[in-house]
Amino acid sequence: MQPLRYGVATSAFQIEGASTADGRGPSIWDEFCTRPGVVLDGSDGTVACDSYHRVEDDLALLVELGVTSYRFSIAWPRVQPTGSGAVNPAGLDHYVRLVDRLLELGIQPLPTLYHWDLPQPLEDAGGWPVRDTALRFADYSGLVADRLADRVQVWATHNEPWCTAFLGYAAGVFAPGRREPEAAYRAAHHLLLSHALAAEQVRARRADAEVGIVLNLAPVHAEPGVDPAAVDAVDAIQNRLWLDALTVGRYPAVVPDVSDTLDADLTLIAGSADWLGVNYYTPFRIGPPDAAVDAVGQDVHAFPGAPDFSFHPRPPFTSMGWEVDATGLEAVLLRVAEALPGTPLRVTENGASFPDATLADDGSVLDTDRISYLREHLAAVERARSAGAPVLDYVAWSLLDNFEWAQGYTQTFGLVAVEPGSLRRVPKASFAWFSEHVRAGR
Ligand code: FCB
Repeated sequence: MQPLRYGVATSAFQIEGASTADGRGPSIWDEFCTRPGVVLDGSDGTVACDSYHRVEDDLALLVELGVTSYRFSIAWPRVQPTGSGAVNPAGLDHYVRLVDRLLELGIQPLPTLYHWDLPQPLEDAGGWPVRDTALRFADYSGLVADRLADRVQVWATHNEPWCTAFLGYAAGVFAPGRREPEAAYRAAHHLLLSHALAAEQVRARRADAEVGIVLNLAPVHAEPGVDPAAVDAVDAIQNRLWLDALTVGRYPAVVPDVSDTLDADLTLIAGSADWLGVNYYTPFRIGPPDAAVDAVGQDVHAFPGAPDFSFHPRPPFTSMGWEVDATGLEAVLLRVAEALPGTPLRVTENGASFPDATLADDGSVLDTDRISYLREHLAAVERARSAGAPVLDYVAWSLLDNFEWAQGYTQTFGLVAVEPGSLRRVPKASFAWFSEHVRAGR
């Protein structure tokens, strides 16, 4: 097998800022952030890391790090400010320039077409629970591919559609903040449909394009005393809903009737991913409904239809309250390798938020806990590869400390800190460690 390739990831809303520059329209996250109490520190993405204006700073970091790929996302509201109609050339040019610079530097661009920033007018028209949003996404993807397909071979459509559907429309803790379980299932279906339609658009413009989708999968463990049906429902919603649809074109039983044209849609969805991205942070431990430890994103309301349960994560924890367990990454990769035989896999996100409280003499962050996390998870990837999982890339989350959604700027996942105010980039000890690891592997 080829040696593992290394990259780092970011997403548009979390780093770009410049939220009205060059004709960008509002997204659901801009709107969500204006609601009192939904973002922990009351912050938003209007400035973030200002990466829209600091592309060269970020590229210099990638070069220093020595990575061979960069996973970023394209902001739909920059390309189509209202989510439909003509392209906004100034917005799309930003990504054409970014891709050209990456190619000049010998870094493979790994763009994701949707990392949660739906143009607000499309949410006003119903959002992902409405079928038309899937058709709009296909149009948007075609417009991006018109400009980028000659330069980009490997594409991802969606990032973590489980979060979009179930944290956005069932738990309501992510934009657009709706609590409508039925709608969440329809959103899930339209996200998968839109992935398949977008893949067709990209392939129509580049025959050898490789179009994948990025899922956040997790091993689901049963704790003593839990209703087995709850464990099964969590696994169905988190993992099988996506994997079964993409492989055999079927939904697990927990999924209600979501479409009048279900069979035809599932025929399109089955086999539509040329590769699969796996984002992994933590396993899920499902126990009886009682005093559960609160962990970010582990929200029982995001599993509509599951019998009552609670999450019971075990220490050690990251700052998100997420259990650290590298064996979970190995298990997920082996499961996916078995579910999609022969399909190339990429670890498209993995990393950890820690307090970053220990400083070196020069004031930089001595993040030994992040280094340990990365080291253990990289070893898990190598074990999965040795056992036959065709993992091509390992992409760390994240290049920079950034806007961590409902946690605002209170969580730090970066290999590089971003100084408040000046937004100066300050590499942490993990940056140097990862760089050494990457260079040793090349
Ligand atoms: C994932 C998201 C990414 C980031 C990490 C910590 O769920 O895809 O944007 O927020 O979690």
